[in-house]
Amino acid sequence: MRKKLIKKEKAIIDNLGDDKMKEKFYLATAIAYTSGKPHVGNTYEIVLSDAIARYKRLQGYDVYFQTGTDEHGLKIEHKAHEANLSSQAYVDGIANEIKRMWDLMNTSYDKFVRTTDPLHKQKVTEIFKKLYDQGDIYLGKYEGWYCTPCESFITESQLIDGNCPDCGRPATLTSEPAYFFKLSKYVDRLVEHFEKHPNFVEPISRKNEIINNFIKPGLQDLCVSRTSFKWGIPVSFDEKHVIYVWIDALNNYLTFLGYDIEGNHSELYKKFWPVDLHVVGKDILRFHMIYWPIILMALGEELPKKIYAHSWYLTSNSKMSKSKGNLIYADDLVELYGLDAVRYYLLSQMPFANDGLITQDLIVEKINSDLANNLGNLVNRTITMNLKYFDGKIQSNKNKDPVDDDLINLAKKTVKIVDEKMNAYHVSEALEAILNLSKRCNKYIDETMPWSLAKDVTKLERLGTVLYNLLESIRFIAVLLQPFMPQTSEKILQQLNTEANSLESLSTFGGLKEACEVKLSDPLFMRVNK
Ligand code: MSP
Repeated sequence: MRKKLIKKEKAIIDNLGDDKMKEKFYLATAIAYTSGKPHVGNTYEIVLSDAIARYKRLQGYDVYFQTGTDEHGLKIEHKAHEANLSSQAYVDGIANEIKRMWDLMNTSYDKFVRTTDPLHKQKVTEIFKKLYDQGDIYLGKYEGWYCTPCESFITESQLIDGNCPDCGRPATLTSEPAYFFKLSKYVDRLVEHFEKHPNFVEPISRKNEIINNFIKPGLQDLCVSRTSFKWGIPVSFDEKHVIYVWIDALNNYLTFLGYDIEGNHSELYKKFWPVDLHVVGKDILRFHMIYWPIILMALGEELPKKIYAHSWYLTSNSKMSKSKGNLIYADDLVELYGLDAVRYYLLSQMPFANDGLITQDLIVEKINSDLANNLGNLVNRTITMNLKYFDGKIQSNKNKDPVDDDLINLAKKTVKIVDEKMNAYHVSEALEAILNLSKRCNKYIDETMPWSLAKDVTKLERLGTVLYNLLESIRFIAVLLQPFMPQTSEKILQQLNTEANSLESLSTFGGLKEACEVKLSDPLFMRVNK
């Protein structure tokens, strides 16, 4: 795997010169905490980002797709202690597990980063020092509730009857020296940025929530150092303090691209900065929408183009959590249902701005209705008919009938719908449009009844046209499915025996070549028994 990554990184660097004509696209996911194995909610984010990255590549963008792990902090220090491991050994194990999960999901990231990387630590140290030297970070006093056994600060609203929400023991009011970031200095510029770029954060409803809850009441300066734990990047000029984990984590987007504090940035940085799209969960939008742009303003770097805050997968209407014992893991689902079925579920069942539900029953229902009955069945019976009636040879589509128009128009329209939806990151709606085309094909089979055309020798040419229209529509489906279900798409294109898989190849309905032979493979999806 490591070899594969090094090869990928080398390819990106080698390409720096060649792809000058292509527009660049830097896509970054949040970096997952190495506190434990990632559940299906965390995994959704990388699959969602992967679908976007693959679509951008299909559109011809030169994509740089970064993901990785966030490895410092008190919680991780505790977990390592519980597991009787050094913090480093603990995060090494979990980071491997996260990477294994991202690879199992067939995600096409270009770089997997880890915040324990020495180069990242050095750059974060330099960034912190620079912000301190220029007066944006200052030494102050942190005052608040503290749980001594857990060594953690608790906000007033987290207290349960004056006790720590984690261990239940009494919290005490304490005060300790800490460094603070002058967010207040930049807040007017930030608000101006929101006003000038109304689509900077989506969905808009989430942006407004944060403006109302955090900016309008008055933005407090942010405490950016801790003395209560050790597992973090030390403040170089005051080693009792470690850098607060968000300042460490957010900067991953800069440091791993080759940002240099003196301005001698790498070629990769010069080409790909700024981030074009941050994909993060709704719970961490605040950090990306307020702290992150302010850090960049203070460093004098360009701000990201867009932040998309996706919703959450809930299970039976409640949040997944270890204590409720309702965690679902993507690797278990893949073992049960197959990779692309899981990718399909994750990508199709999360609305743009609301939470999605995931349960085993719902997964089985979707596989049976959308994948086995609709898509799988369409491909299987169309290829089977073309083999049966024409020995597999694709016929010409000369013998037209008005009933064809609706199907052909929908195939062409689907390309546009998918493009519009994907450009707006309405991923589940793009996928829905593709499955609707598949449904329309099944209806066309009912309308044209190829089996009855086959009984009449004078209608063979018409039969050939009907099957051509179906096979070509299936090619449209397969090409459009590439970002969402890459393996399924490839299997369909192999059965169609075509290499016409680019978006440009969908500019005309007629990409399949006459006389080429289709091939039947195993069914794409089997029905699953509840
Ligand atoms: N380490 C921070 C992010 C730092 S980014 C500079 C973090 N890590 S996390 O492991 O807790 O979460 C990783 C991502 O998974 C976040 O974007 C988070 O919102 C997302 N999700 C966590 N639970 C989720 C669901 N149930 N459903 C969908 N996404 C979920 O936050």
